[in-house]
Amino acid sequence: MDKKCRICGDILNVFLPFGKVPISNTYLTKEQLDGLNIGEFKEYMYDLEAAFCNNCKMVQLTEFVPYEKYITPQEDGSTEYLFYSSTSQFMQKHFAEFAQEIATKFMKMNDLVVEIGSNDGIMLQAFDQAKVRVLGIEPGTNVANVARAKGIENVTEFFTEDLARKIVNTKGKAKAILSANVILNIGDLHELMRGINILMDDNGVFVFQDPYMPYILEKNSFDQFYDEHVYYFCITSLQNLMKMHGMEIFDVQEQDVHGGSMRVYVKRQSDSRPISEKVRKILEQEDKIGLNSFSTYQAFAERVERIKKNLRDFLRLLKENGYKLAGYAATCKSSTALNYCGIGTEFLDYISDSTPEKQRKFSPGKHIPIVSPEHFRQDNPPYTLLLAWNHEKEILGKEKDYLKRGGKFIIYNPCLRIV
Ligand code: TMP
Ligand code: ZN
Repeated sequence: MDKKCRICGDILNVFLPFGKVPISNTYLTKEQLDGLNIGEFKEYMYDLEAAFCNNCKMVQLTEFVPYEKYITPQEDGSTEYLFYSSTSQFMQKHFAEFAQEIATKFMKMNDLVVEIGSNDGIMLQAFDQAKVRVLGIEPGTNVANVARAKGIENVTEFFTEDLARKIVNTKGKAKAILSANVILNIGDLHELMRGINILMDDNGVFVFQDPYMPYILEKNSFDQFYDEHVYYFCITSLQNLMKMHGMEIFDVQEQDVHGGSMRVYVKRQSDSRPISEKVRKILEQEDKIGLNSFSTYQAFAERVERIKKNLRDFLRLLKENGYKLAGYAATCKSSTALNYCGIGTEFLDYISDSTPEKQRKFSPGKHIPIVSPEHFRQDNPPYTLLLAWNHEKEILGKEKDYLKRGGKFIIYNPCLRIV
């Protein structure tokens, strides 16, 4: 059966079928792994498939993975989301600057700023609550509690039209609605935009940032395709979506996070705020680099196939020569990389990760043990596959002793390289 575009209903064109893969951020406990081996536990698998809509130009996954597969319901009725935004120092600084920009450009004393998907409060904590009112919306109980402990008011729910109405009734409309790395996860973007229309002040702004499709193409970062990321945006496809809801993009700003993101500034069409020349230029540029043609995505898929082959050949060669291999950072991206490329414990002895909740567990699909960075440093493997290429600078800095001792990192994009 033909699969339909979630934005405009047209037929989708698949360009990269990754095959059946597990949920990227679900680490198995030892008990689950044992249960799997005797058939008492099953890992949820789905078809990861990237597709392009020739009508509205939106790149998206063909299958939507229900939220409860990765925001896990617990026995006590709470939910758990195994991702803490504040793990990286670089990201803390990044979000402090984001908050600063929003407060100075768009807000006055006592205005309300709402963040959708506020996680552990990494961005909202940077607003001065003596000046503006902040509200986080975060469905993961565990991460929302971390934000609460920092004094940030939180609603532990998904953002819906109903919730938007409730917030307006109790707190009034929002001057700024923010989101980072979340909009791309929302299956029904029309419901999101209806909610934004209710919540946003007449001359309010909706500012969000997500990975930007041209950077994915440029970096061949195929591992950015995974369950939580339903959409892969460019300004052309986003502008089409916004116009369907009486809104428009009035500015854009490149960001050096998650392998290259775009911060997108949205206003109501009725708001007379000027539209930056950058918007016209970027739309022109997107057409020039072929973002509106399916063949561009097919060419990307061919490059990705080559990376997979080169990486597998290289790891096999190292193993044949007796080298011990480890992985570094159990990221969501690593799940696509390892499952799509077929890299399991026959190659990697373990993956080092700094998140305590992931340690002593096993990676989705390939069941590679997760260990602490201390274990990694002590073990000192000769080659380590870097599974967080977006944190390359930070990690190479942190592990300079490993590099000094002769350790090497293997990086697989934009093409295979050793550092
Ligand atoms: P992500 O934000 O790209 O998904 O990566 C986050 C994961 O990477 C998280 O589990 C922590 C891990 N990580 C390390 O183990 N060491 C590091 O130095 C960094 C930056 C991340
Ligand atoms: Zn479409």
